[in-house]
Amino acid sequence: MKEWLPNTLDAVRDSIRVRETTLLPRACFRICFSYAPQMSPPKISARVKDILVCPECRGSLGEKGDTLGCQGCARSFAISNAVPVFLSQPLQLVAPDHSSNPIGPEYEAVLRAGNDFVLNIGAGGTAQRYPNCIEFEHKIFRHTDVVGDAHHLPFREGTFDRVFAFNVFEHLADPMTAAQEIHRVLKPGGAVVIHTAFLQALHEEPHHFYNATEYGVRRWFAPFEIEDCRVSGNFGPGVMLAFLMSNVLETARLSEMPSKQRDLLKASKIGDWAEFWGKWGETPPGFDALQSLPQPMQKRIAAGFELIAKKSGA
Ligand SMILES: C[S@@+](CC[C@H](N)C(=O)[O-])C[C@H]1O[C@@H](n2cnc3c(N)ncnc32)[C@H](O)[C@@H]1O
Ligand SMILES: [Zn+2]
Repeated sequence: MKEWLPNTLDAVRDSIRVRETTLLPRACFRICFSYAPQMSPPKISARVKDILVCPECRGSLGEKGDTLGCQGCARSFAISNAVPVFLSQPLQLVAPDHSSNPIGPEYEAVLRAGNDFVLNIGAGGTAQRYPNCIEFEHKIFRHTDVVGDAHHLPFREGTFDRVFAFNVFEHLADPMTAAQEIHRVLKPGGAVVIHTAFLQALHEEPHHFYNATEYGVRRWFAPFEIEDCRVSGNFGPGVMLAFLMSNVLETARLSEMPSKQRDLLKASKIGDWAEFWGKWGETPPGFDALQSLPQPMQKRIAAGFELIAKKSGA
C-alpha cells in the first residue's frame, strides 16, 4: 500500500492536470490517418480479430481491406493502423507520451502473471502493453487495441477471465448498461474490478456524469455476485481531501478571486469549516467568497445541484 500511495497522490495531481488539458480545443487531439497508396494497411492481430463481433447486432465480422464488415447487419467499421474502430464520431488520437494513472501493484501482478485474459475498459495511456490484455478505449492511446463504446462492447460473449475499468464508470452515460455488457463478455466465474468516483470534483467535463455512493455502485452491478465494495488506497479519505481542497483553491484561482481572499481561504483550517458546519463556529474565512463564485465555477466543486425543468407542450 505504501508503494501505491505516492503514485496515488501523483495520480490526483495528474487528474487535475488532465482536467486543465481538457480546456484545450478537442481538435488538438485529432488527426486523419491516411496511407500512401503503395503501402498495404497493417492487419488486425489474430488475438483481437478472433474475439470481435458487431457491437450492434453481434454478427460476425470479416476484414475487407481497411474495413471490417458485419455479416449480420452489413454495417462497416474502420480499421485505423491495425486498430478496429467501432465509433462513428471522429477518431481522437492522444499524444503517445500521455500516461494515465497506474493500475496498482495488485492488478499489475495479474497482468504480469499472464494466466488470465483481461479486458481493460477505458485503459487510457498504460505504462506497459501485455499480450494477455485487450485495451479498449474511446480514443487512441499508445497501447489501444480496440476503439469503441463501453455501452456496446464489440466482443463475443464469455470471452474474458477478467475485466478492469479504472476511473471510467463516472464518465459513462449509462453505467448499468455498461455493467450488463461486462457481464456478457465475461466467462462464467469471471471477475470484474472497477474504481469509480464518489466525493470527487468535476473532471473531464462534460463527460463526468456520476459520483456514486457505495449503494449506487452496488446497484449498477446487481447482476453480479458482489464480493466486496471497498475503499482502495488510491481513494482513501486523505486522497479525497487532497483532491477536493486542491480543486477548491484551483477554482478560486481560475475565478480570479482577489488574492487577499484567496490567501485567507488557503490559510483556513479544516477545523474552522467543521465547527461552522456543526453550527458552533464562526463563518470560516473564504466562505462568502466561495458562495458567490460565478455559477460555472461553483459547478466544479458544489455540494449538489438544483434542477428546474418543464414538461414540453401547452
Ligand atoms: C479518467 S480516464 C481513466 C483512464 C485510466 N483507466 C486511468 O485510470 O487513468 C477515463 C477513460 O475512459 C475512456 N472512456 C470514456 N467513455 C468511454 C466509453 N463510453 N467507452 C470506452 N471508453 C470510454 C476515456 O477515453 C478515458 O480514457
Ligand atoms: Zn452487425
